[in-house]
Amino acid sequence: MEKWQNKIAVITGASSGIGAAVAKDLAKIGLTVIGLARRSEKVEKLSSKLGNDCSGKIIAFKCDVSSLDSIKAAFKWIQENFSCIHILVNNAGNGLMGSILDASDQMTSAIQKTIDVNFSGLVHCTREAVPLMNDFGLIINVGSIFGHEVPCPNQSNLYPATKFAVKAMSEIFRQELIVIGNEKIRVTNLSPGCVQTEIFKQAGIVDTETFFKLFPFLKPEDVSAAILYILSTPYDVNITELTIRPVGEYLGNKNIEKISNLRDFN
Ligand SMILES: NC(=O)c1ccc[n+]([C@@H]2O[C@H](COP(=O)([O-])OP(=O)(O)OC[C@H]3O[C@@H](n4cnc5c(N)ncnc54)[C@H](OP(=O)(O)O)[C@@H]3O)[C@@H](O)[C@H]2O)c1
Repeated sequence: MEKWQNKIAVITGASSGIGAAVAKDLAKIGLTVIGLARRSEKVEKLSSKLGNDCSGKIIAFKCDVSSLDSIKAAFKWIQENFSCIHILVNNAGNGLMGSILDASDQMTSAIQKTIDVNFSGLVHCTREAVPLMNDFGLIINVGSIFGHEVPCPNQSNLYPATKFAVKAMSEIFRQELIVIGNEKIRVTNLSPGCVQTEIFKQAGIVDTETFFKLFPFLKPEDVSAAILYILSTPYDVNITELTIRPVGEYLGNKNIEKISNLRDFN
């Protein structure tokens, strides 16, 4: 991991869950991590808690990836202060449960927000980052197992569509980078199964304590370890897809039905 010392990583959604775990681990191996999030104060707190054994650092910058202006401002600041980026982890994500055919205004805005964060935000962050990357650039898109399979209907709608789109974009960016002569920039689509994070509360699960006991869950640190593995590979190896699930994960109808009493969505 010596090769990553003093390199620059940008992580979107670094304020909690997977993004926070990745920010800490990348700082530990010597990277300067720019952690983007709306709750930048949480990223600052993360930074202040890094131990003395940590050779890198975390720098917080407030950014709402659902806003193109906010993304542009963040990457302008990065360019002015660091001039280049070696790793981009597109991690910011919005969960959405409930029927997409629900006609309420609440669902209408939730749909837009989920597309803006999970898809448009990832596309625009990548478009801003690539011109700042050199030959050794690495882009990791945090997709999902729901980018490979659609769970039981009416439970987690639209979210899988955004993650299928993330998977497609990962391959589209990989190919386009080759076509424009940036073939050394690597692109990975990382697809975790269920991970114990705040995303379920944000998506409408009221009793997350009970929820987390229903199925096996990964810890954010497990996903971060998968990212460290991607970083450990030689520059001429591109892991294009990496799926990581908790042992025994089964997202069939019987299991999905168990969550029906724990939710406040339709
Ligand atoms: N947990 C799972 O089971 C699971 C499984 C597969 C994939 N994933 C994916 O993993 C990624 C991280 O999610 P998580 O599970 O770690 O959930 P989390 O703890 O809720 O973290 C979500 C992160 O996204 C950020 N975010 C949300 N909206 C944003 C916006 N408009 N602008 C900037 N940042 C925004 C949040 O930061 P702020 O609120 O501070 O802005 C937060 O740091 C997501 O892409 C998610 O889809 C999660």
